[in-house]
Amino acid sequence: MKIASRFQASPESGAVQFQYDGETLTAPAGIPLAAALLAHSGGFSRQTAGGHDRTAFCMMGVCFDCLVEVDGIPNTQACMTPVRGGMVVRRQIGLRRLKGGSDV
Ligand code: FES
Repeated sequence: MKIASRFQASPESGAVQFQYDGETLTAPAGIPLAAALLAHSGGFSRQTAGGHDRTAFCMMGVCFDCLVEVDGIPNTQACMTPVRGGMVVRRQIGLRRLKGGSDV
């Protein structure tokens, strides 16, 4: 049984451009956003509340070290989000509120 890798873009998917902290990046459409960010620089994609740098680690939705802001939505798991053209991605610095959470 052959299983399609989530880390390979199909040949017909083509390249797309998206914004990352104001910089224009190019990546194959449909690959995980975390893979595109790792391929770009490998640098941190978020900082913890204590100021520690983090980037994608597990690549399977478990560790939450890949959280970024995508199109204004914080706490987005980059490893579970396919790259698409025109998306606006920002590093996530510090804590973000949970939707519907307390303001305290
Ligand atoms: S890299 Fe672990 S949850 Fe995304």
